[in-house]
Amino acid sequence: MDLSFTLFLLVLAFSFQCSSSSSSSSSSSSSSSSSSPLRKGSSLSVENPNDKIISHNGMFSAGFTAIGENAYSFAIWFTEQNSLNNTIVWMANRDQPVNGKRSKLTLLNTGNIVLFDVSLNNVWSSNTASLKPLELHLKNDGNLVLRELQGTKILWQSFDSPTDTLLPGQPLTRYTELVASRSESNYSTGFYKFSFDDSNVLVLRYDGPDISSSYWPKPWLLISQTGRASFNGSRIAILDYFGNFLSSDNLTFITSDYGTVLPRRMKMDPDGNVRVYSRTNVSQNWYVSWQAIYGACIAHGICGDNSTCSYNPKHGRKCSCIPGYRVKNHSDWSYGCEPMFDFTCNRSESTFLGMVNVEFYGYDIHYVEEQHTYLRLPKGNNFSKQETSTPGDHICQVKLQRVFVSSSDSHFVKFFLWFVTAIGAFEVVFIFVIWCSLLRTHQNTNADQQGYHLADIGFRKFSYLELKKATKGFSQEIGRGGGGVVYKGILSDERHAAIKRLYNAQQGGEGEFLAEVGIIGRLNHMNLIEMWGYCAEGKYRLLVYEYMENGSLADNLSSNKLDWSKRYKIALAIARVLAYLHEECLEWILHCDIKPQNILLDSNFQPKLADFGLSKLQNRNNLNNSSVSMIRGTRGYMAPEWIFNLPITSKVDVYSYGIVVLEMITGKSPTTCFKIVNGEEESDGRLVTWVREKRGSNISWLEEIVDPNIGLNYDKSKMEILAKVALDCVVDERDSRPTMSGVVEMLQFHGSDA
Ligand SMILES: *[C@@H]1O[C@H](CO)[C@@H](O)[C@H](O)[C@H]1NC(C)=O
Ligand SMILES: *[C@@H]1O[C@H](CO)[C@@H](O)[C@H](O)[C@H]1NC(C)=O
Ligand SMILES: *[C@@H]1O[C@H](CO)[C@@H](O)[C@H](O)[C@H]1NC(C)=O
Ligand SMILES: *[C@@H]1O[C@H](CO)[C@@H](O)[C@H](O)[C@H]1NC(C)=O
Ligand SMILES: *[C@@H]1O[C@H](CO)[C@@H](O)[C@H](O)[C@H]1NC(C)=O
Ligand SMILES: *[C@@H]1O[C@H](CO)[C@@H](O)[C@H](O)[C@H]1NC(C)=O
Ligand SMILES: *[C@@H]1O[C@H](CO)[C@@H](O)[C@H](O)[C@H]1NC(C)=O
Ligand SMILES: *[C@@H]1O[C@H](CO)[C@@H](O)[C@H](O)[C@H]1NC(C)=O
Ligand SMILES: *[C@@H]1O[C@H](CO)[C@@H](O)[C@H](O)[C@H]1NC(C)=O
Repeated sequence: MDLSFTLFLLVLAFSFQCSSSSSSSSSSSSSSSSSSPLRKGSSLSVENPNDKIISHNGMFSAGFTAIGENAYSFAIWFTEQNSLNNTIVWMANRDQPVNGKRSKLTLLNTGNIVLFDVSLNNVWSSNTASLKPLELHLKNDGNLVLRELQGTKILWQSFDSPTDTLLPGQPLTRYTELVASRSESNYSTGFYKFSFDDSNVLVLRYDGPDISSSYWPKPWLLISQTGRASFNGSRIAILDYFGNFLSSDNLTFITSDYGTVLPRRMKMDPDGNVRVYSRTNVSQNWYVSWQAIYGACIAHGICGDNSTCSYNPKHGRKCSCIPGYRVKNHSDWSYGCEPMFDFTCNRSESTFLGMVNVEFYGYDIHYVEEQHTYLRLPKGNNFSKQETSTPGDHICQVKLQRVFVSSSDSHFVKFFLWFVTAIGAFEVVFIFVIWCSLLRTHQNTNADQQGYHLADIGFRKFSYLELKKATKGFSQEIGRGGGGVVYKGILSDERHAAIKRLYNAQQGGEGEFLAEVGIIGRLNHMNLIEMWGYCAEGKYRLLVYEYMENGSLADNLSSNKLDWSKRYKIALAIARVLAYLHEECLEWILHCDIKPQNILLDSNFQPKLADFGLSKLQNRNNLNNSSVSMIRGTRGYMAPEWIFNLPITSKVDVYSYGIVVLEMITGKSPTTCFKIVNGEEESDGRLVTWVREKRGSNISWLEEIVDPNIGLNYDKSKMEILAKVALDCVVDERDSRPTMSGVVEMLQFHGSDA
């Protein structure tokens, strides 16, 4: 009995051996013409690395790829020159890898494509049937199609079942979604999804083991506030070959390299962000040319259960277990944290621990305005220690221009830029943690929300004639500087606008200009002047902004319209917006020309920063020519780095900000000359020296420096904080200056009731 059974097994094993060797021989015969399409009855074997289908242009390959130890998937990838890691764009069996021996993909005579495991399990199939001659063919766009040899009928195509990647020309429809892999190295189905939701809007969603929630567009906004539309139910979105994305919910964007046909892929990444990657050359690396969210902690669930996410520009995202909990799996934070104690229901044995600036989105019982979170823990334990970690991911992969060059030596411009970038990378620029929007206080959320709302309505392209008409032939000049002349205009819809005509804008192509303007146009903050659109026609480059009735801070300071509390609020708001510009990770934009003329005031004396991002627009030309050297800024407000030819970092804006605040406190312009009496010596000095001198010399220094227009009606302790912060900002040593978010914290903390 036993013997016969063993024999039976042996026979089975033998016959299996035969059949598999015959199939592998048949596949190796087909592998001699490996790049050709697969016909009925033939197979691709996992054991033969040459068993691949290659697209006619050579860009894509389809075949087996190793995704773990002795674990293989049938996939489509970008053909690399000499890479170990394939850039996979589609996978048949992401959750069920097959063995590295005897697995194969076969186009059966029935017309079905079947992926067989070693034990001939049907791991995946296309569920097709046809008696006609068929071929499995990889098209030049990366689409693997099963089609009839005669005629054009397509029975199955990989474009209909994307995994985590969308290729140019491949539509995302109401039947499809992109689902991220579990991690960069584990390709199995993860938690993040990019798809149309029930209201016809494209969203990013976290679909975790316990909760589901969408986090992009911002869930607390109405659809109309996000610039999307829900009325079109066709639910179709597509990235074209030039880098323009169009969706039926009115989401449109262009990639930063828009305009040229490049290999691109749109991928739902395991960190919850959807990105477009491009590359200019097979031998080059992929770079990010667009991404949906900015900020490391916006994606829900990124740190798993019972843990919090914070962002620190030096280390990137940081996950921390809440007190009393420990991490479940050190190599994968998405498993979250588990309690280190047993729960007790006895009230007198438990205690509450307050957690500030923490929001557990999706876990609220109801909406609470002032959200402090309290954690219930057993009494008598010491839970002060928290477990933290920094998952290594690519938060700051997009390298937008981070530093500017003021070197006049054209030969060294390029080298210098690299050098400076390298320094920038190692420098500890920021020493604090920004709690990202998930963790922000309600007050901030409100502010962001407002900023968001404003910026989402109608950014568009204007024609030159339209703007000429709006400005009555560029007749009413209202300002100058920052690379152009500003005119007042009235648009066809009666809106008052400030229209800036850029000088020297004709270098650089329209695509480049557009990409840059697109980046600026995406910056949303209630304290940034809103950009309504642009014009790029021939040699003309114009920008259209909202018009501010109350003029600039400079006008208002000289005409004495600002009392103490308005000045304090302006100082705080400008600090906030600069922190936003500097530190929202990817949108690292230096202003480089902070001065009262560039701070405009709306009807409520709410300040809005103007001219941001222009330094970037113009500097690009500058670097490409690598000949012109340009020092930006305005005399009196410029940091010493400019003069001493040192690397330019965000600290130049901190310096200028400090000067502006000193000007608001004293009412005196930084270019005024002051008599400084130092002992017996008398000399001419700057505003900064004068204030420092006053502070050092006597106790009632504040009274002596404060603008007489303010009178005595001010909060002395807050004024002192403001003055001290301003003096910290203007120290010559740039590394000793605080960061803008440091400034916000100081002003906010001390002046929270201002
Ligand atoms: C391949 O991927 C692994 C992990 O994803 C990475 O550590 C390694 O550097 C990559 N190798 C190449 C040549 O890109
Ligand atoms: C990938 O993740 C899945 C789901 O968590 C897990 O079951 C599997 O073991 C992981 N695979 C590897 C190779 O780590
Ligand atoms: C959607 O976009 C079209 C064309 O840009 C525009 O006419 C329409 O007003 C937009 N709809 C909404 C609701 O924003
Ligand atoms: C809906 O969106 C699709 C794709 O953008 C477009 O072709 C179609 O015209 C739109 N339908 C309406 C009624 O706007
Ligand atoms: C691509 O790389 C090859 C080899 O490095 C180079 O010869 C070619 O000029 C590059 N093409 C482009 C468009 O950069
Ligand atoms: C921890 O995560 C890694 C990577 O996903 C996985 O291979 C391993 O099995 C996990 N360990 C435990 C104990 O869950
Ligand atoms: C998170 O904590 C709760 C108790 O607070 C516990 O029930 C749950 O299992 C924890 N989650 C994980 C992933 O351990
Ligand atoms: C709750 O704990 C207190 C102190 O440990 C104890 O005296 C009391 O009996 C407990 N109550 C219950 C219902 O277990
Ligand atoms: C708790 O532990 C920390 C270090 O882990 C220690 O500094 C602190 O004194 C402890 N507190 C108590 C009350 O034991």
